[in-house]
Amino acid sequence: MPLPLSAIPASPLENEPANAVKESVETLALLARRRSSKLMHLAEPAPSSAELDALVALAARVPDHGKLGPWRFVIIEGEARARAGAALADVIKNDEGVDESRLEFVRGTFLRAPACVMIVSAPQPSKKVPEWEQQLSAGAVCYNLLIAAHALGYAGCWLTEWHAFDTRAAKALGLNENERIAGFVYLGTPSVGAAERVRADVTTRVSRF
Ligand SMILES: Cc1cc2nc3c(=O)[nH]c(=O)nc-3n(C[C@H](O)[C@H](O)[C@H](O)COP(=O)(O)O)c2cc1C
Repeated sequence: MPLPLSAIPASPLENEPANAVKESVETLALLARRRSSKLMHLAEPAPSSAELDALVALAARVPDHGKLGPWRFVIIEGEARARAGAALADVIKNDEGVDESRLEFVRGTFLRAPACVMIVSAPQPSKKVPEWEQQLSAGAVCYNLLIAAHALGYAGCWLTEWHAFDTRAAKALGLNENERIAGFVYLGTPSVGAAERVRADVTTRVSRF
């Protein structure tokens, strides 16, 4: 059962104390147990439009060198999911080997989950902040959205798939030339609780300089 929107605390205004360091067993547990859901396990209901707005506002609170805001969100919910899928199908319809079953699948891309948020990496011109840092910030947005969704009571997964790497698809989804898709975060209500999977062995990936 998702928490009510009123449970999300207000973010501080500029120069107000952020009180960012706060012991929280719940936050630690959320991170210790975090798991993505499979698309097929994202059931209705979707987060409402108001919940999605609140989630992206939380997600946008990422480290952002130079305050450039080098990312943006495109919410794909409700019937827009079919429209966005149709736009993708249109992109590939004349490609070699594409048959009706492939087109049908692609048309349903965003209908596989109750809602989707496309996170667009939109690097800003900057002499000070390298593009790489700006792209990392967009990645942080994707993860922050996932964590915020979990804390509100929704499940999700961060996918890219072919359409994140196809310039024709990017154009069809409304991206500008300098932009790239950082991810599609699909969201819904978990129908199955995900079991843990094999993790990279951190001990072999930590050293001390
Ligand atoms: C940038 C990025 C893109 C991803 N794209 C895909 C994808 O296209 N398809 C997929 O099955 N998993 C993809 N994943 C992996 C899933 O998001 C997820 O992390 C994985 O299924 C493992 O689950 P976990 O998050 O619970 O560890 C991607 C992850 C990242 C960070």
